[in-house]
Amino acid sequence: MKLGVIGSGNIGKGVGSWAAKVGYDVTFSGKNEAGSKSAAQAAGHGAKAANVRGAVEAADLVLLAVPYGAVKEVLTDIRPMLRGKTVIDATNALSADFSSLTLGFTTSAAEEIAKLVPDAHVVKAFNTVFAQVYASQNPKIQGKAISVFVAGDNKEATEQVQDLVTKMGFDAVNAGPLKSARYIEPLAMLNISLGYGQGLGTGMGFTLLR
Ligand SMILES: NC(=O)c1ccc[n+]([C@@H]2O[C@H](COP(=O)([O-])OP(=O)(O)OC[C@H]3O[C@@H](n4cnc5c(N)ncnc54)[C@H](OP(=O)(O)O)[C@@H]3O)[C@@H](O)[C@H]2O)c1
Repeated sequence: MKLGVIGSGNIGKGVGSWAAKVGYDVTFSGKNEAGSKSAAQAAGHGAKAANVRGAVEAADLVLLAVPYGAVKEVLTDIRPMLRGKTVIDATNALSADFSSLTLGFTTSAAEEIAKLVPDAHVVKAFNTVFAQVYASQNPKIQGKAISVFVAGDNKEATEQVQDLVTKMGFDAVNAGPLKSARYIEPLAMLNISLGYGQGLGTGMGFTLLR
């Protein structure tokens, strides 16, 4: 399975490297190619670097890991290439000081992204877990796997993402349709608020016991 990563920063590097480790054919991309090259080198396991178009062209799955404010610019350029592909949205629409969300209740970052690329299958995932957890490549805290909430309108695309999440060792929670991103994104805001505001740190995550 080929994963194209757009945005080789904290999240792109963390999830992309882990995906490479569990057998995905990963290509990193971003604004500057030097960052993508160093991400690919650090990831190993055959990971490559390319420009955004190159990373998306060959991919079955595309991980969108850029600041929400950059999404429109990134997607406008590659919209036709995303037809029929699964786009994993890991973004959070944060205010400039990271203290609140700029979208909610009646829409979500994921739903706005789906409007920009209507021919792609957008799936929300990975946004409620800190990049530091992905960098650690350890999905468990005190023996329990952290939950990663997955929401999407296309069954096959959602299953593809759940499969990646599970292979990484996380607890994949099917959160239903893409509209559920309205509830998943505030959970990410709570995560940030607990981790930074309340001083719990970034080595934490939510686990859904059931
Ligand atoms: N950090 C976390 O713990 C965390 C957790 C969950 C979700 N998220 C979400 O994940 C997303 C990425 O966060 P991050 O922490 O990984 O940010 P980051 O470290 O700043 O990385 C963002 C990446 O996006 C790239 N980028 C920016 N504009 C671009 C463009 N126009 N075209 C292509 N690439 C572009 C940047 O490239 P350059 O380096 O070349 O500028 C950079 O590699 C955000 O939406 C964030 O809210 C973050």
